[in-house]
Amino acid sequence: MHIGVLCGGRSAEREVSLRSGEAVYRALLAAGYTCVTKIDVGIDLVEQLKKNKIELAFLALHGKYGEDGTIQGLLEMLDIPYTGSGVLASALAINKIATKKIFMMEGIPTPRFTVVNRREVYTNGLDQAAVRVFKEVGIPAVVKANTQGSTIGISFVHQQDKMSSAIQNALEYDHDVLIEEFIAGMEVTASVLGNEEAVALPLIEITSAKGVYDYEAKYTPGLSDHIIPPRLPEATQGYIKELAVKAYRAIGCRGLARVDFIVRQRDAFALEINTLPGMTATSLFPDAAKHAGIEFPELVRRIVELARQ
Ligand code: DAL
Ligand code: MG
Repeated sequence: MHIGVLCGGRSAEREVSLRSGEAVYRALLAAGYTCVTKIDVGIDLVEQLKKNKIELAFLALHGKYGEDGTIQGLLEMLDIPYTGSGVLASALAINKIATKKIFMMEGIPTPRFTVVNRREVYTNGLDQAAVRVFKEVGIPAVVKANTQGSTIGISFVHQQDKMSSAIQNALEYDHDVLIEEFIAGMEVTASVLGNEEAVALPLIEITSAKGVYDYEAKYTPGLSDHIIPPRLPEATQGYIKELAVKAYRAIGCRGLARVDFIVRQRDAFALEINTLPGMTATSLFPDAAKHAGIEFPELVRRIVELARQ
């Protein structure tokens, strides 16, 4: 079987994806797959897939045109199996607002929020939109571009007069901006692996030397730490794992995904689902797998097998 590792692409997370792609490529070789080609995804993708006679695509892409259902749709059309979630689950999960609405319908706790879009700003002006947001969500708040990953386009707002510029910044990346109440608590992530029988791997508590787990903290060695298991009672960990699998099923994920939470005492709030989580050797998902006794080559082998089911 010829496996194509699809990485790079043209999202804001291109650099991260190249690193995930390289790590996955090496892990596939270590797992014993002999025919593996790494492909930097560009507009010649279809030719590349055909030229290399790719029979299965291992997606190591992040963000737009990778994690959002578009490439999944293309691969469906070409009848090439691929790792991870399908078109709808990918498109839902990249959309933080749609995801939160589904969480609410399914009884999965998520921080209170409101949405500002370009139309509202065009009609009422930025400052008036910011006043409405302040009334509805208050401060501190987290302002997020709806469909970005790796904390790109995110601001933490602690003063009312900073709300407008935070919204404007996020609008540069997206038509819709999500403004959530900021919940001070522990950042915990749950990696979920499997199709129908999906299970949560050991949870990870994330600490950041910067206080916030932003792009720099995520990708600069030494600026963040993984604590496994998190410093939480067993019962709380079990509850978070249950919520993670529930969220995974609610969105309709397959293969793998990572559900991010904020935990305040015994309360856990789901923030979002990453259907193509970072896969460098030191990323969260492979680290969780390792603590479950699944080394990286075995992990990629399982992800390939899940794609073939
Ligand atoms: N969006 C990054 C790659 C992650 O969630 O791991
Ligand atoms: Mg994300």
